[in-house]
Amino acid sequence: MSTNVKTIGVLTSGGDAPGMNAAVRAVVRTALNKNMRVFGIRQGYNGLINCDMIEMNMRSVSDVLQHGGTFLRTARCLEFKEEAGIQKAIEVCKKVGIDGLVVVGGDGSFRGARDLSIRGIPCVGVPGTIDNDISSSHYTVGFDTALNTVSDMVDKLRDTSQSHNRCSVVEVMGRKAGDIALHAGIACGATAILVPERPFDIEKDVVAKIKLALKTGKEHFIVMVAEGIDYDSVQLAKDIEAQTGVETRATILGHVQRGGAPTVRDRVNASRMGYHAVELLDKGIGNRVVVMRDDKVVDFDILEALNMKKEFDDELLTIANTISL
Ligand code: ADP
Ligand code: F6P
Repeated sequence: MSTNVKTIGVLTSGGDAPGMNAAVRAVVRTALNKNMRVFGIRQGYNGLINCDMIEMNMRSVSDVLQHGGTFLRTARCLEFKEEAGIQKAIEVCKKVGIDGLVVVGGDGSFRGARDLSIRGIPCVGVPGTIDNDISSSHYTVGFDTALNTVSDMVDKLRDTSQSHNRCSVVEVMGRKAGDIALHAGIACGATAILVPERPFDIEKDVVAKIKLALKTGKEHFIVMVAEGIDYDSVQLAKDIEAQTGVETRATILGHVQRGGAPTVRDRVNASRMGYHAVELLDKGIGNRVVVMRDDKVVDFDILEALNMKKEFDDELLTIANTISL
């Protein structure tokens, strides 16, 4: 099919995620293979507004695949949420000749991509965030690496928790999504998992479980909580200690969860989605997000994708609750 898109830009936006580099590499190399010009835009939408970008060649993305973070840098650009900022970005696109854009980021970044698309610059989003909170996608680039990081950290915590017969409350990231807590909770053998998607009762869902497990001879415990729940982790540790008699510590894992070399799964899926994004632009198709559904790469209209409801895996929570004691 013939194409109108001859020069594209690629940027990473929002919180960084391991695997973003693999996505950018796939975008750059796929585009170059189609004889497009490609600009790597720095610091998210800031780079588009300020014309902070560099033309890419095949070697520009050498040796980035295995690194966490984003070599293009990222930002949460407030200016781009305003019409004036969007117009500045459009002017820059016109000046440089950018007639298509790939945006690697989360839902907020996709809103920006839609704002540009409906004003004549076709954009395609690729989900990059550790949170796995993109409603249209079963998977986001960075999620798998973050889970592996959490599981490494909690294995270490378990050593000390076990040695002292303690309980460890572990708070993980995810904004309003509990996917990291749910999956990591299973992987780390948590006695209880608390997520914002489902109501919980500390007495029934945490204290009673620990008391029951104590009776069966269990002496140390992991309680995995998502940062988005409405309960302070340090307070939770105090409450558990007061109600069970088990000495309890809270650990907030924090930004370490965003770092590290991307896993194979993140590298491969980032490469698949980055490739697909350029295939769309090459056909002159914009205003889309590329997502994973049941391990297949598909794409949706951005607004349709933003309006989708995030599915929560209740079956996995049931499994976790069943095998946790
Ligand atoms: P994160 O969840 O890590 O913040 P997002 O992908 O949601 O990641 O990124 C949010 C960023 O997207 C904002 O800080 C802003 O720079 C950019 N953005 C652009 N347009 C919009 C918009 N209309 N609404 C929200 N964010 C936007
Ligand atoms: O969206 C990724 C994420 O790491 C969330 O899990 C977390 O709530 C947030 O970003 C932290 O943002 P910041 O880097 O601004 O502290």
